[in-house]
Amino acid sequence: MRKKIVAGNWKMNLTSEEAILLFDQVSEKISNQKSVDVMVFPPSIFISELAKKSNSSIQIGIQNFYPKDKGAYTGEISISQVKNIGATHVLIGHSERRAYFNETELFLKEKVDIALEYQVGIVFCCGEPLEIREANQEMTYVKKQLEDSLFHLSSDDLEKCIIAYEPVWAIGTGMTASIAQAEEMHKSIRSWIAEKYDKNTANSISILYGGSCNAANANELFACPNVDGGLIGGAALDAEAFLNIIHSF
Ligand code: PGA
Repeated sequence: MRKKIVAGNWKMNLTSEEAILLFDQVSEKISNQKSVDVMVFPPSIFISELAKKSNSSIQIGIQNFYPKDKGAYTGEISISQVKNIGATHVLIGHSERRAYFNETELFLKEKVDIALEYQVGIVFCCGEPLEIREANQEMTYVKKQLEDSLFHLSSDDLEKCIIAYEPVWAIGTGMTASIAQAEEMHKSIRSWIAEKYDKNTANSISILYGGSCNAANANELFACPNVDGGLIGGAALDAEAFLNIIHSF
């Protein structure tokens, strides 16, 4: 049975005090929450402090890392350092990193491989920009993103990954994919995994939707048979909104 997951991507927001407050407000309300895995991706400088909070039912991930063991890479954070400070997951392939930091498919593949080597969980993001959707090329585009950075894995390793479909035109725009668009893509992603691997593998992988997912639309989106939760940006910065999304299943 694949897991239901709600993950908050805090991006480059919040002071340390605000981050702690938000974390506490969410964790207080979900201490008995067993049916949904809750994860947050705070700015990396806040992670060790948040990870020290015991009894928390929130898993903590990092938004970025550099795919080398260690060495002279000024300003970067290695995957072993990520683990060392208590993060259990990494985001890989977010469209903002692809677009603003020129992270290529090959670079993302390196990140995937090293995260698996260090046994850190992966949330791998994929999704098409607006012009690709307008040209009806979104299926080919997203399939290629998965083939180039993820489909070299064995089925055992792929099963350790969570996939997040985030249409770029929906991120931070208030323009959510329609229920039909989300389900169509999620179903296709699952069918590509089944083709390349097998049905069991395809059915065991959680596929999250991201892109202006909020308390008002999460319920409908999460009701789609192939949507296993959400990767939430803006709405994850507000405890009440994030909690409402968690309770939308
Ligand atoms: P959004 O961001 O919910 O603010 O659209 C989602 C994301 O970028 O992961």
